Amino acid sequence: MDVNGSVIVITGGGSGIGAQVGKELAEQGAKVVVAGRRAEKLDKVVTEIETGGGEAFGVPTDITDEEAVGNLMDAAIDRFGRLDVVFANAGAIADSLMLNTDKATGKVKKVMSTKRFKKVIDINLVGSFLTLREGARRMVDNGWKGLLLITSSINSTGQLGQLNYSSTKAALTLWPKILSGEFHLRKIGIRVAGIAPGYTATEILTGMNQDALKYILKDVHIGRLIEPSELTGTVKYIMENEAIDGTTIEVTGGLTFGPRARVK
Ligand SMILES: NC(=O)c1ccc[n+]([C@@H]2O[C@H](COP(=O)([O-])OP(=O)(O)OC[C@H]3O[C@@H](n4cnc5c(N)ncnc54)[C@H](O)[C@@H]3O)[C@@H](O)[C@H]2O)c1
Repeated sequence: MDVNGSVIVITGGGSGIGAQVGKELAEQGAKVVVAGRRAEKLDKVVTEIETGGGEAFGVPTDITDEEAVGNLMDAAIDRFGRLDVVFANAGAIADSLMLNTDKATGKVKKVMSTKRFKKVIDINLVGSFLTLREGARRMVDNGWKGLLLITSSINSTGQLGQLNYSSTKAALTLWPKILSGEFHLRKIGIRVAGIAPGYTATEILTGMNQDALKYILKDVHIGRLIEPSELTGTVKYIMENEAIDGTTIEVTGGLTFGPRARVK
């Protein structure tokens, strides 16, 4: 698939990885539809793309809203005539230990609330499901050979304090295999692939306590955050290579949990 001329819908396109990938693919000729909850953030990305001579528009969308996600895909098709890539990139965290104990008594003081657990499941899993389903059904009904892309995370391997988030990302890492198997069975020509970034320089991390950031970077071989631009290359690589299907590619800078304790 050529990036130039392709139509790509990106959820979470108003900030971070989604915004950067959208801007850079637009520079290379992709027609970009950015979706997210906040219109003003989408507008900013669209203006930047248009200023650079690219084509884009934004659709305010809550990805947990089934009807809104369908409308997003229809808007992309109405405007650009087709759908080549659906990038389920939006995600959220709400970290907490499952049990917080009182230091003095050792008894449970507070638990992770059901609401907090479910919020992340709803956005990361249900939202990604709706995004991919509503995109794929339109590709199939129109006979388009497209690509479904998913943002997983290195934290799919299990991160302390992220029982909810890591659970969703572990599941998302499996989806390319499950869905490309389904499409193979049904002779549907849609590829499915994921990217699993390591610690990436978006607001979530650059805004965090800088001492804590230095500490987690001790686990990263290249010793720095991944730049969102470095993920654009991976997205482009997946788009252009038909052989990449049914898999999730890690881009982590050599993150392994463990060295932190020994690296000075
Ligand atoms: N930054 C990292 O270190 C890192 C590492 C691994 C994976 N990721 C994943 O990358 C993806 C993008 O994250 P980011 O780092 O760019 O952070 P980000 O916070 O800038 O992006 C997340 C986007 O998802 C959107 N979003 C959240 N809930 C939504 C909803 N209900 N409907 C529509 N949009 C919604 C947010 O508005 C935001 O634009 C996420 O899936 C995240 O889990 C990030």
